[in-house]
Amino acid sequence: MKNNILEPIILIGFMGTGKTTLGKYLAKANHLSYVDLDAYIVQQENNTIPDIFEQLGEGGFRSLEYKYLTECIDRFDIISTGGGIIEGEKSYALLKQQTKIIWLDCDLTIVYNRIKNDNNRPNANNKSLFDLKSLYSSRVSRYNEIAFKKVNSSNALSDLHKEIMKELTCE
Ligand code: S3P
Repeated sequence: MKNNILEPIILIGFMGTGKTTLGKYLAKANHLSYVDLDAYIVQQENNTIPDIFEQLGEGGFRSLEYKYLTECIDRFDIISTGGGIIEGEKSYALLKQQTKIIWLDCDLTIVYNRIKNDNNRPNANNKSLFDLKSLYSSRVSRYNEIAFKKVNSSNALSDLHKEIMKELTCE
């Protein structure tokens, strides 16, 4: 559970940019608690993300995402979010009030190759690179609006760690 920082570090960014990998790395390196919001939703709802999309629609998923984001902000030090969280108006408004938001960004071709065949991502499944680019373009201004810092997630984890901690501790 929550360790020694008051506001959580929240990782945002498009699908497949490495939010989970970096979140786990930061948590381990700094002895902080960590949650992957998608995994938390799956665990709490005892349901998969594709099934939630199927049963409740994307709007239903966004409501659950907001509900569990509020919980996780109070309970964990580092949170990796789902790439579409900024599409939920309530989540977006809540994230706007947070100060330690790190935006992970990288080349979309890399992202596409990572996620194109992933059945667990309803918003990427069966999409072309062009489709993903349009989705990315529709989201980018919101990532930019709420991010305290943007990093290139193609860089090595150890470098990203240094870059982020330096920024957050104002070294
Ligand atoms: C989504 C991203 C996913 C997950 C859900 C919807 C999106 O998270 O929340 O499939 O709309 O971009 P990742 O960014 O971890 O893939």
